[in-house]
Amino acid sequence: MTDYRAIRGMVDILPDTSAAWQRVERVASAVLHSYGYSEIRLPIIESTHLFARSIGEVTDIVEKEMYTFTDRSDNSLSLRPEGTAGCVRAAVQHNLIATPQKLWYTGPMFRYERPQKGRQRQFHQLGVEAFGVSTPDLDAELLLLCRALWQQLGVADALTLELNSIGSPEARANYRQALVTYLSPHREQLDADSQRRLETNPLRILDSKDPHTQALLAEAPVMVDYLDDDARADFQQLQALLDAAGQPYRINHRLVRGLDYYNKTVFEWTTSALGAQGTVCGGGRYDGLVAQFGGKDTPGAGFAIGLERLVLLLQSLAEEPPATADVYVVTADEAAQRHALPRIESLRRAMPQLRIQCHLGGGSFKSQFKRADKSGAAVALIYGASEVAAQQVTLKPLRQGTGVDQQTLSDADLCGSLQQALSINSQD
Ligand code: HAM
Repeated sequence: MTDYRAIRGMVDILPDTSAAWQRVERVASAVLHSYGYSEIRLPIIESTHLFARSIGEVTDIVEKEMYTFTDRSDNSLSLRPEGTAGCVRAAVQHNLIATPQKLWYTGPMFRYERPQKGRQRQFHQLGVEAFGVSTPDLDAELLLLCRALWQQLGVADALTLELNSIGSPEARANYRQALVTYLSPHREQLDADSQRRLETNPLRILDSKDPHTQALLAEAPVMVDYLDDDARADFQQLQALLDAAGQPYRINHRLVRGLDYYNKTVFEWTTSALGAQGTVCGGGRYDGLVAQFGGKDTPGAGFAIGLERLVLLLQSLAEEPPATADVYVVTADEAAQRHALPRIESLRRAMPQLRIQCHLGGGSFKSQFKRADKSGAAVALIYGASEVAAQQVTLKPLRQGTGVDQQTLSDADLCGSLQQALSINSQD
């Protein structure tokens, strides 16, 4: 039998959630604007080698998670698993990095991972990339931009900032060697993945969730002792800037990130409210990436927010499901409907910011009020027989905290009373 269900890991965003997505997108685009970032829109498909070279040949993403295929001209292409590689490619290709550049993008990304809550095969990121500044004031500004977004969305208290520095490539190579020297005699005690990584990508062992491996890591050398002077000074300056801005953070010596292009500062914003997939945002510096893509040696830093996880966090903190209307219009019969219709059309033109739902499909007042209540509307407008006869309308508050009492009004007074009723009740 044909299966008409969505492909595993590809998720429909349904109407009861799209309002939360729109809110995130609206607030994020305003915050990004206020920090001077411009939007860039990028292709979903790029050459496979673009990802392999930048993210790293021996990362999980490139080794086992990319959707890779050959096109009709025999080119190996991949659905983008993340946005940084494509953004840097575009910045180099269009010479956007001649002057400092602050860019953002959003859209679907694809990784063949095992789906679970907060982890999908098609998911969405909102990413930010800044080019041309090598000093840690940029890193601090990126983190404060995130904080501004969390604050405006009301999720700041649920998120913790974790920071680490992974230094220069040379410092990292020294540390990698020290880690391998420490772990090699205990090889047999490591989980299977970590045994493999001991040869291919030893720093990723620090991410292992296996309790035996974790116990071994408790005594392992830490990156901070191997940092070069430059990275150490930058990391201290970043911490001083965050202290001055009142942004708390936790230094996590095991934070290495799953992509190879980073150097110096790396960070993640995590929450305990979402279970295992608690990283809502991750990023850091990638000072070598532009040159790697053939551009003039230009520093860069950025982050990406996992939008599914951010929306899940918003929903986990919301007390009530979001309203689908501000005003719900109830009518007694067909005559009342004919009376109400042109008036509601004028009201929509006069107050376009309001979501006005007219009850459709008839039914008793009781059933119409049930629907009004379910819609989450703050007020109902009632056109009964007496209102129609007197050319009036009754405004009935449906929620506690609405700024007016029930009242019967002339058409002329409706806008003013609605404004009074709804501005006091407005959430944003
Ligand atoms: P990333 O840590 O791989 O970094 O992904 C960033 C965020 O995307 C994660 O913290 C998570 O919230 C979300 N995410 C990743 N995979 C999934 C998935 N399978 N399902 C749902 N959400 C997911 C990057 O992608 C870098 N490009 C970030 C960056 C930008 N660094 C510098 N600039």
